[in-house]
Amino acid sequence: MQIRFLGQACFEFAYGASRILVDPFLAPHNPVAPVSAEEVDPTHILLTHGHPDHAADAVAIARRTGAHCVAITDLGRWLGEQGVESVSDPNLGGTVRFDWGSVKLVPALHTNSSPDHSLPIGVAAGLVIEIDGVTIYHLGDTCLFGDMRLIGEREAPEIAIVPIGGHYTMDRADAAHACELIGARTVIPCHYDTFPKIEADVEAFRAEVESRSESEVVVLAPGEVHDR
Ligand code: NI
Ligand code: MN
Repeated sequence: MQIRFLGQACFEFAYGASRILVDPFLAPHNPVAPVSAEEVDPTHILLTHGHPDHAADAVAIARRTGAHCVAITDLGRWLGEQGVESVSDPNLGGTVRFDWGSVKLVPALHTNSSPDHSLPIGVAAGLVIEIDGVTIYHLGDTCLFGDMRLIGEREAPEIAIVPIGGHYTMDRADAAHACELIGARTVIPCHYDTFPKIEADVEAFRAEVESRSESEVVVLAPGEVHDR
């Protein structure tokens, strides 16, 4: 599996003929994204929530490519209303299975809306994604909460994708504590340095996590790929 970071919380997981895109927020909407919405060709799109820095490009990409979308119930319904034809709409605790693996929605403590903020849409989610037997916990946008330990115990993720930028999510100190609760072997930070409000010292985060736990922090610049 190849894990490509595309900026903010957007990752593309490539496995066989499947390209699983999480939280598309690409150029020109995202000033640091290495590619535009026209330059990705996913088979599946998974959304943590509908805020623009996670879903700005979801409808356009899904309509162009026919990619199958997974989003929490109320956001899934909204996608359908926007003309996205292929949608799975689990709620928290629900799992959707594919030939490449599965995605399960878990809690995240955060708000949710349509990408233009005009419509409040239920709650946000984290994603437990299993691809070829590897479990990845994409936390979505969230503050620190104690049930991260439960999710870590229950799902035993090998890889945790963790927001560290503060202001709209955990800051890097809370994120380092989250990594201890979750216990993943590999931690990939995201949701920082995209714009000034969420600037973070990623090397300080790395040092704190690696001094407090067995986790290894893999820092990816937008466009970089991690092979697993
Ligand atoms: Ni958000
Ligand atoms: Mn966000």
